[in-house]
Amino acid sequence: STPDSYKINGLTYPKDSYSNIPSSILDKLDRNLHLLPSHPISILRQIVEDHFSTYTPLVPSSAVVSVHQNFDELGFPPDHPGRSLTDSYYINNEYMLRTHTSAHEVESYKKGLDKWLLSADVYRRDEIDSSHYPVFHQMEGTHIWQNEDLHTLPALNAELEERLKECNILIEDETVISTSNPYQPHHDTIHAEQITKHLKHSLNSLIFRLFGHHASQKGAEPLRVRWIEAYFPFTTPSYEVEVYWNGQWLELLGCGVVMQKTLDLSGVSNKSGWAFGLGLERLSMVLFSIPDIRLFWTSDPRFLTQFKQGEITTFQPYSKYPPCYKDMSFWLPPSANASAEQHEHEHGAAAAGGKLPPKSGEKTFHENDYCEIVRDVAGDLIESVTLIDKFSHPKTNRKSKCYRLNYRHMDRNLSNEEVNELQQQVQKRVVQEMGIEMR
Ligand code: PHE
Repeated sequence: STPDSYKINGLTYPKDSYSNIPSSILDKLDRNLHLLPSHPISILRQIVEDHFSTYTPLVPSSAVVSVHQNFDELGFPPDHPGRSLTDSYYINNEYMLRTHTSAHEVESYKKGLDKWLLSADVYRRDEIDSSHYPVFHQMEGTHIWQNEDLHTLPALNAELEERLKECNILIEDETVISTSNPYQPHHDTIHAEQITKHLKHSLNSLIFRLFGHHASQKGAEPLRVRWIEAYFPFTTPSYEVEVYWNGQWLELLGCGVVMQKTLDLSGVSNKSGWAFGLGLERLSMVLFSIPDIRLFWTSDPRFLTQFKQGEITTFQPYSKYPPCYKDMSFWLPPSANASAEQHEHEHGAAAAGGKLPPKSGEKTFHENDYCEIVRDVAGDLIESVTLIDKFSHPKTNRKSKCYRLNYRHMDRNLSNEEVNELQQQVQKRVVQEMGIEMR
C-alpha cells in the first residue's frame, strides 16, 4: 500500500476521503485464524461444520466487499449508524472490509445452495477491552426451502428439550411475534412459524452439542441460555441468543427469518428460510476458558500447542504477566463538545455510532478513533482503554477526558521504559491527528 492506494490480494484500490484502514489492520488480512489447524477458532469452526454436516461449507476469498454487498443489498437504510466511518473500515467510498459474514448472503443464495455455512474474518472499529478486537471471526449459516416443501418440515423439538434438561441446560425463551418483531406480511403464517421453529431447534441443538458435556459435570450450576428479540434490517422476526457466563449475559449470535427482499434479489423468490451469524471468538472464550481475546493472535507456542483439532479443552494459563497502566488527560477539540457525550458502546452491525464523513477540516472526537491510534501504536500490548474521568470547565465550557491505558504483554514482562515510550507515541499521534490538547 502507498499513501494514495491500498494493495490487497494483488488488487490496487485508490484511496479517497473514506479511506480509514491503518496498517495494523491490513496486516491481519492474511492471518486466517479460522483456517489454522489446531487453533481454537478453527477447532470451533470445524465442530460447527460437523454439527451442520449436510450444509455446504464456504470460505470467501477476500475480506474486501463492496459497500453495496455489506449494507445496501441487505436493506440497511442510508443513515444506519453501522455505515459510519467511526464504526467500519473503508477502502474507499465503494469498497470496505466486511463487517459481517451476512455480506455474502446474496452471492451464496445466487449459487443455488439451500443450506450453507460460511466462515470468515470480519472487521469493526471498536473500543478496547478483553472481549473486543477490531478483527474477529463469524460463521453465517442458512437454510432455505422451496415454499411448496415447507409443509414437510419436521417438528423436532420435544426430544431435544428432554436432552437439554438432562444436561442441565436451561433454555429461556419468552420471545413473541408482535408488531415490533413480526412475521413478513406476504409469508403464510404457518410457514413462517415452521421456519422459526426449525431455526430455534437447529441452534438449540448446536448449543447442546457445544455445551452438553460442560453442563453435565457433577454439581455444576445449570447453564442458562436465552432467546431475546432483536432487530436486523435483513431478517424478521429476528433474535439473539445469549449465554450466562461469569455473571453476565454474553451475546453468541444473531439470527432470524430471511427477508424476502434478499431472496428476491438473489433470484430465488420461490424460497424462504432462516439465517444466523455466530461470533467465533466469544464462544471460544467461553468454551476453552480463554480470558483475553488477544491470545487468539499470539504466536507463542505455549498457547498454540495446547489445542487439538476436534476437541474442546480448558486453556491452562501459562502465566499472567503484570499490567502497567498510564493515564492520559486531554482537552477535546472545540467542535467535539456537542457530540462527544452521545456515543454509546455497542457491538453489532445494528449498533450505535457516529455519522457519515465529516466535512474536511472539522474535528469530532470519537472514542473509536482514539482507540484505533492506541492500537496502531501499541498493537497487542494494549489490554484495555477506559474512560475514568470527564470534566467540563464551568466558565469556558471546555471539555476534557481522562483515559486509563492498561498495557500488558501476553507472553512476557513489559518494562516501564517500553510503556512510557508507547504512551508518548500515542500522545504525539492523537495530538497531531485528532486535534486534541494534552492537559
Ligand atoms: N450479521 C449479523 C451481525 O453480525 C448477525 C445475523 C446474521 C443476524 C444472520 C441475522 C441473520 O450482527
